[in-house]
Amino acid sequence: MTTASAEPIDSLQGGGRVFPPSESFRRDAVAGPELAETASRDRLAFWAEQARALQWQRPFSEVLDWTDAPHARWFADGRLNVAVNCVDRHVLAGDGERVALHWEGEPGDTRTITYSELLGEVSRAANLLADLGVQPGDRVAVYLPMIPEAVIAMLAIARIGAVHSVVFGGFSAESLRARIDDAGAVLVITADGGWRKGSVAPLKPAVDAALALPGEQTVRNVLVVRRGENAVDWSEGRDLWWHEEIAAMDTTHEARAFEAEHPLFILYTSGTTGKPKGILHTSGGYLTQAAFTHRSVFDLKPEQDVYWCTADVGWITGHSYVVYGPLANGATQVLYEGTPDSPDPGRWWSIVERYGVTILYTAPTAIRSFMKAGRAIPDAHDLTSLRLLGSVGEPINPEAWLWYREVIGGGRTPIVDTWWQTETGAIMVSPLPGVTAAKPGAAQTPIPGIGIAVLDESGEPVPAGGGGLLVVTEPWPAMARTIWNDPERFRETYWSTFPGRYFAGDGARLDGDGDLWLLGRVDDVMNVSGHRLSTAEIESALVAHPAVAEAAVVGAADEATGQAIVAFVILRTGAELTDADASPTLRAHVAERIGPIARPARVHVVAELPKTRSGKIMRRLLRDLAEGREVGDTTTLADTGVMRTIQTGMHAD
Ligand code: PRX
Repeated sequence: MTTASAEPIDSLQGGGRVFPPSESFRRDAVAGPELAETASRDRLAFWAEQARALQWQRPFSEVLDWTDAPHARWFADGRLNVAVNCVDRHVLAGDGERVALHWEGEPGDTRTITYSELLGEVSRAANLLADLGVQPGDRVAVYLPMIPEAVIAMLAIARIGAVHSVVFGGFSAESLRARIDDAGAVLVITADGGWRKGSVAPLKPAVDAALALPGEQTVRNVLVVRRGENAVDWSEGRDLWWHEEIAAMDTTHEARAFEAEHPLFILYTSGTTGKPKGILHTSGGYLTQAAFTHRSVFDLKPEQDVYWCTADVGWITGHSYVVYGPLANGATQVLYEGTPDSPDPGRWWSIVERYGVTILYTAPTAIRSFMKAGRAIPDAHDLTSLRLLGSVGEPINPEAWLWYREVIGGGRTPIVDTWWQTETGAIMVSPLPGVTAAKPGAAQTPIPGIGIAVLDESGEPVPAGGGGLLVVTEPWPAMARTIWNDPERFRETYWSTFPGRYFAGDGARLDGDGDLWLLGRVDDVMNVSGHRLSTAEIESALVAHPAVAEAAVVGAADEATGQAIVAFVILRTGAELTDADASPTLRAHVAERIGPIARPARVHVVAELPKTRSGKIMRRLLRDLAEGREVGDTTTLADTGVMRTIQTGMHAD
């Protein structure tokens, strides 16, 4: 483990600019400073109050049970139905005619779905799942594009008490199968294909390929939504068209309540080993924090706002801030299927203009690519409806922050830089608009009810101005409950570095005001365009290629993508691959094995890799090379001449 690089704090402070909290944002019970006071006086009472904003079929009496730490139980004797909270509740409250989803397909087709309509759709899908024999607790894999059925499927699965495992459509057949097997999914919900970059990207063929791989089979059925209208193979008896099945279903479904700790979903994320971790989230605590943070961090006014989070439902941001948070709050939101530059680079801004989007939540990588394309593109659109902007997924550099506010936000809008993770389930650190004076580039303050500290490696809090490791000091409602099938790994990964405290894997710095600045991962996890990828997983994919003897992967700083994947490989003697062919072949190989998001930016063929005497690859030195820096301290290398050998013989595209 290495600590994050020690840059002087001043260079990180966005030129020292501070934006005072905007008066037009509410400072009332949802996000006011008194909320933080209440939370610090009695954290558990504060979370209980937030939980009571949900509809419980049976109220809870106990807030937190931490006796089996680090496996928390929140609101454990309460019972609720997550989907009822996200849909029925609003219809019963008289808001059925409010638009839940303004959906836009990439080719320009649209659908508007009100909360009443969503209730009908979710009910039909719930009836269908029950008809297919899906039982409470069963796992269902979802491999869909960003179409309304993705949201409907997730809610229907939750409604019947089954557990969804959404797999991002950019993952390969092999990655999908690994996730299906680990979760033991009984059903896969997919589509023929979805629109991306102006054409149909097939999905069903990947499901077929995944299920054709050898090994024990848990999947009984594949439900296929028709979207791309691309030709697909059909396995009679196993495959079913969603639209045909759904048509026969009743639009009412009586939902039963489940315990607050009933599993809601598993979401796989990359860790420091080759095997992705199935992060398990449960119902009551997760929904409480997703809903609370969504309304307080985004200052949500459900009657007026049009909210748009650009994340895919395949990631945690899509779970918490496309599906559960916004729908629990009765928000009206935009859902967009395609890429930001299809058919032209102004697509997002025309969507903002068309629907009058008021709150936009996206990733720094997108902001940086818009910056690169130039302000003329957003300037050609009326973006005055925007009143709040959010950022998530990676540290936002002050330049991007200032550009976002100035060009997209017209110099008016607050920006909330939200730090959190798949494992935290919901936002943990973020300024609150109307409350926090914003510093460009800083996530700043833990939200009310959350305890954060920055520690040095011995577990001591760093003084103001110091850098160290980010930890969460107290259990929180949306925290992961465990790693599916691997509680020991859960304990070991997150709770053993600083016993009793959650180690996030991020470096952070506290400035003189006590504000937090996130500095990136301190482990072997990379962040590429806001996507979390493991160096070990890509290394295993590389060594699975017959021509590769050894591989080391690092994340190198990259202006556009935050980090870029750079691989160093040693080819086998006699490998049927020339140095010149190696890079394109191996990049394609990784994309096929894991998915296009894991395709290395560069593959260097080298004669040796830098290793310590105990055989551990020194990635730090490779990162120096990949970033074109002077190579750092090599004294712990078994062979100190190795870096010279590598440097002189480095080949790439
Ligand atoms: O390194 C942090 C970075 O993203 C990691 C979590 O990735 P994932 O589980 O995929 O969730 C991403 C969306 C919540 C963190 O460990 N990260 C996330 N948000 C920020 C961030 N780094 C800096 N600033 C952020 N706002």
